[in-house]
Amino acid sequence: MSLIKWIEFQILGDERGSLVALERERNVPFDIRRVYYIYKTEQGVSRGYHAHRNLRQVAMCVAGSCKMVLDDGFQREEVVMDCPTRGLLIESMMWREMHDFSEDCVLLVLASEPYLESDYIRDYQKFVAECRHEG
Ligand code: TYD
Repeated sequence: MSLIKWIEFQILGDERGSLVALERERNVPFDIRRVYYIYKTEQGVSRGYHAHRNLRQVAMCVAGSCKMVLDDGFQREEVVMDCPTRGLLIESMMWREMHDFSEDCVLLVLASEPYLESDYIRDYQKFVAECRHEG
């Protein structure tokens, strides 16, 4: 089964342009408790390299593009993020890496929990071990 779960956002467009609304009851499958965005990423830089024990997220490129790698400890998939009208659902216990940011990339992330460093797993071998143990 694919790790890639897209959420398609309705485009509320008219002659003036486009608008996307993100709302818990409509297109986000959790209560949004935090929003952050990654932008002006230096060329050649990769980010992420961690998983979260509990946190769920929806990530979308509202401008530009980047690549997202997801890994559940058993399989790894890569997708191009380049569309402001669909979000990538990243469940808990999912290793993620972000690569190949365009200069204009703005990666917007909705998160189900406040920032909590103890929720991070930053060591890949430890992550795999926790996945296998749970499985
Ligand atoms: P980090 O999660 O390591 O970024 P990435 O996974 O994109 O490479 O976060 C970078 C820094 O920002 C780190 O010092 C923690 C801090 N941070 C917060 O304070 N709040 C947040 O919501 C996030 C996502 C990060």
